Amino acid sequence: MKLFGVLGDPISHSLSPVMHNSAFKALGMECEYHAFRVNPEYLKKALQGAHALGFGGLNLTIPLKEKALGIVKPTEMAKQIGAVNTVDFREGMIGHNTDGIGAKMALSGAGIKITGKNVLLLGAGGAARAIAFQLAKDGASVTIANRTPERAEALAKDVIKVGKVQASGYEDLKAIIRESDILINSTSVGMYPKISETMVTSDMMHKDLTVFDIVYNPQNTLLLKEAKRAGATTIDGVMMLVFQGAESFKIWTGRTPPVDVMEKAVREKLV
Ligand code: ATR
Repeated sequence: MKLFGVLGDPISHSLSPVMHNSAFKALGMECEYHAFRVNPEYLKKALQGAHALGFGGLNLTIPLKEKALGIVKPTEMAKQIGAVNTVDFREGMIGHNTDGIGAKMALSGAGIKITGKNVLLLGAGGAARAIAFQLAKDGASVTIANRTPERAEALAKDVIKVGKVQASGYEDLKAIIRESDILINSTSVGMYPKISETMVTSDMMHKDLTVFDIVYNPQNTLLLKEAKRAGATTIDGVMMLVFQGAESFKIWTGRTPPVDVMEKAVREKLV
């Protein structure tokens, strides 16, 4: 029996156990995935302990992702993003970040190409960082818009090293969206319990737009409802969760998990 898990605090509401266990079961793998509450102070001990106990791999979530950079050996991508969400124990402790690739896979899974596309990314926090680096690397032209414009500017300054990026405030959103192919919300706006909030309404969107919301609670956010009203293509936050998890799964096991099974398990748990 191989053990896997997610470390964080709080952690009791994590959907990762149900998601990964559904994939292990579907593939008939003798593996189990559990959630562990870990205080940041004990992160190093927890990682070393899991390594010593022969864990197959771990995910890290709030508030441990940034701290892990000083403990594990980060990949170039994790270093650039400034956070680790996946630890692989096969050769020491390697720290990956699968959030950006998860977003990319969620888009490509829906048939959306990234190269050469204009992407408006709302937000400049941790999730935005991962997505901005990945999409710029993949040849998109990314506009980062944030409530606090200085954070968007700081992020754009980092991302410019790998691709096309610019920063913006929230004043010109309508004009930017007119020129955009993809709109991604990486802020917490619209997340339960504040479900009646959105920065973008249907009158600001067009039918050739793809709208991707990383918020998964609720699954059908107000932003996505507005996007549907405008005739745009929509991708919800469950797909982001599932694809970042699927990338972790591949890193640990070398196997491609059934994303449809993982998606179903997560959606059932969310209802
Ligand atoms: P995460 O790591 O999940 O991305 P974060 O680093 O706290 O979380 O970032 C949250 C993002 O949501 C930020 O871009 C934040 O904007 P600010 O940088 O201006 O704080 C954005 N955000 C949160 N609440 C918001 C709100 N009510 N309106 C607009 N943006 C909001």
